[in-house]
Amino acid sequence: MPEPRVIRTPQEMAAASQAARAKGQRVGLVPTMGALHAGHLSLVDFARPLCGLLVVSIFVNPLQFDRAEDLEHYPVTWEADHALCAAHGVDAIYAPTAAAMYPQGFQSKVRVEGLTQELEGAFRPGHFDGVTTVVLKLFNAVGPHLAVFGEKDYQQLRVIQRMAQDLDLGVEVIGRPTVREPDGLALSSRNVHLSPEERKHALCLRRALDRAQERVRAGERGAAALRAAALAVIEATPGARLDYLEVVDAQELTRLTRLDRPARMVMAVWMGKTRLIDNDALN
Ligand code: PAJ
Repeated sequence: MPEPRVIRTPQEMAAASQAARAKGQRVGLVPTMGALHAGHLSLVDFARPLCGLLVVSIFVNPLQFDRAEDLEHYPVTWEADHALCAAHGVDAIYAPTAAAMYPQGFQSKVRVEGLTQELEGAFRPGHFDGVTTVVLKLFNAVGPHLAVFGEKDYQQLRVIQRMAQDLDLGVEVIGRPTVREPDGLALSSRNVHLSPEERKHALCLRRALDRAQERVRAGERGAAALRAAALAVIEATPGARLDYLEVVDAQELTRLTRLDRPARMVMAVWMGKTRLIDNDALN
């Protein structure tokens, strides 16, 4: 397997992309912040057969962190990430420096309005502006035909699809299912911060989703009842502290009262000092 080429500047990235396009190749992008795990790799494996030039970006984006502590402790595993990219047939790793992304004097941002107001947006001020700004910059440098994101960050996926459509980016934004540990915990780079005790109790997110899905299968269609059933699981879990848990329209992410259209249960829960999110379809 040839080694992926490591690219550090937007200029060099754009040149590599233009060269591929000139050869008639499709360009695919999987944006990440590194600390790669099987969730990220599922996106890579999905994109690989769809493009001639497959780029994984690795950039821990300071703009999207609402807590300095979270940024400081964000895991960095460059050697392992590089080896995993090589093993999965990635052609190029785009890993710009912070100085190349945000040079002195940088003062622009892109904002998606409605979709970013609730859920994660309500608890993480400025987070989505940071995400959309960096993703637009990554799209501009990489010039992808397609970009693949995880449903694990469901609101993020919808926000980026909205941005791509609203701003005529000409990038096909594809969402892929959440990859989980065998016991159901969604893979996340932040799981390494969980103590063994917290790791056990972190299953409450998947269990809450299961509980709601069982109620749907039993015929329940009222959002309040589904929410209450899931909430009971979180509330019974030692050390779990809820940020939000909602039943929302799968497209618009607005709160639903009844499951009369495609719906999603979405939640954020603190386990000690670690904030976990999860979601799943309800119908
Ligand atoms: P990061 O958290 O590294 O995630 C990169 C991509 O992997 C995202 O699309 C995310 O949804 C997906 N992902 C994470 N865990 C997953 C899992 N268990 N199963 C499937 N996919 C999973 O999300 C970001 O980085 C950043 O916000 C980014 C988009 C790169 C912008 O900085």
